[in-house]
Amino acid sequence: MDILKTPKEMRAWRRAHPGSLGLTPTMGYLHDGHLALVRRSLAENEASAASIFVNPAQFGPNEDLDRYPRDEEGDLRALRELGVAAVYLPSVVDVYPEGYQTYVTVEGLSQGLEGASRPVHFRGVATVVTKLLNAVQPDRAYFGKKDAQQLRVIRRLVRDLDLPVEIVACDTVREADGLAMSSRNAYLSPEQRAAAVVLSQALHGAEERFRDGVWEAEALRTGVRAAVAAEPLAELDYVSVADSETLAEIEGEVQGTALLSMAVSFGPVRLIDNVTLGEGG
Ligand code: PAF
Repeated sequence: MDILKTPKEMRAWRRAHPGSLGLTPTMGYLHDGHLALVRRSLAENEASAASIFVNPAQFGPNEDLDRYPRDEEGDLRALRELGVAAVYLPSVVDVYPEGYQTYVTVEGLSQGLEGASRPVHFRGVATVVTKLLNAVQPDRAYFGKKDAQQLRVIRRLVRDLDLPVEIVACDTVREADGLAMSSRNAYLSPEQRAAAVVLSQALHGAEERFRDGVWEAEALRTGVRAAVAAEPLAELDYVSVADSETLAEIEGEVQGTALLSMAVSFGPVRLIDNVTLGEGG
């Protein structure tokens, strides 16, 4: 497995490996959700690359950049065992050299939901993903559906900037009790970890109500609010029932499909999760 540290090294590697290439961009501290993306990439491409870069530009001033969990050795071992051909592992100055001042902003889609609580987040994500795609030049790039808004922002940016890459969305991987896998789950105390099951339970409850004929978006949001309120360690940041393409909040009944998403804090730890209502009829 080759480890490439700069955009120049990465592009030289790509020129020497011209077959179809899949990229899984990550911030490291890999869990089974990341590994599922890598496995799909390995199955669909002649070679696969992963990137590990904790991107300062997507963290707000009071967020967890400094304590974001890291395990470079463990990550490289896992990627090597799976059969990844190349890992792009740039340093912060390789990505943002002195004097850096160019950012990619996806305007409308970045504003609501996560963007409302995290104003610089999607500008940072869109910028770094553009730079990662430019350095690695993959044919396909793999992202998880857990980060539903991120996925839409990235699809939009790829279309708007005519980037020659296919974005592949992969299902959320969950722990046995339903908690969506996330590197941030590592921050939870045992009590918070037990309480965190409230996200997937609330979403599952809403899915069942929807299937039983509760199509009014506000009724679905109210049900999720009540489920989270019943868990004393959980504080709801938002619950949204939105158009699954535009992410515009739905008033009235859900027609077709809708994205039901939420963010919940457990002390300083903020987790997100979502389901698509109405998928598969
Ligand atoms: O989803 C993530 O881990 C990050 O937001 C990404 C896409 C790797 C960009 O830093």
